[in-house]
Amino acid sequence: MTHPSAHALLHWYDRHRRTLPWRVVGQSHPDPYRVWMSEIMLQQTTVKAVAPYYLRFTEKFPTVQALASADRDDVLAAWAGLGYYSRARNLHACAQAVVALGGFPQDVEGLRALPGIGPYTAAAVAAIAFGVPVVPVDGNVERVTARLFAITEPLPPARKKLAQLARTLNADAEAQERPSDFAQALFDLGSSLCSPRAPACGLCPWQGECAAHKQGIAAELPRKLPK
Ligand code: ADE
Repeated sequence: MTHPSAHALLHWYDRHRRTLPWRVVGQSHPDPYRVWMSEIMLQQTTVKAVAPYYLRFTEKFPTVQALASADRDDVLAAWAGLGYYSRARNLHACAQAVVALGGFPQDVEGLRALPGIGPYTAAAVAAIAFGVPVVPVDGNVERVTARLFAITEPLPPARKKLAQLARTLNADAEAQERPSDFAQALFDLGSSLCSPRAPACGLCPWQGECAAHKQGIAAELPRKLPK
């Protein structure tokens, strides 16, 4: 199976990257606390809804120590409106675990062991904050992958296969050198051009390498089993 060019994606990202509160341009090692906070908030919530909460939280609790020693009720109150309150309880518990450890673990396995951190979030924090060359697989990355390789089997059965393929996307040297940008470029591609209903294939850096586009079925993928 041929692989799409990391260079084309990163070049596109360098020109089109979105300015988001948790993205600090030119900072090679962003604050893991902030990366982790943004990823927890983004788990079931859109970028637009998350942004004001992210700013409020990082102002109120500027460090993981500040969050760990805050009252649980204050953390839950600041979370009010974001929904999925187990995320807020885990956020607080995770901050306490991180302080007890003396800082964030810097690898996927160590991160995965913390409260509220699943495989996606562990990979996202490892790649974005610590430069570990892993591909975090969320719904956006699944969609991009299904289209690139024209995987027509439906979700959820195709999930494992898509995750395996997605994890090969960073195989070439340029992606290995820029794990943080590569992960975020995939998120941005999936949430902008490679959108669920009407993908903008004409603008896509991977247009020439996308099997679904070649077959004229990009907008139909990924297929889903009826609920
Ligand atoms: N979705 C999840 N994580 C994200 C990030 N770091 N940037 C943009 N969208 C995201």
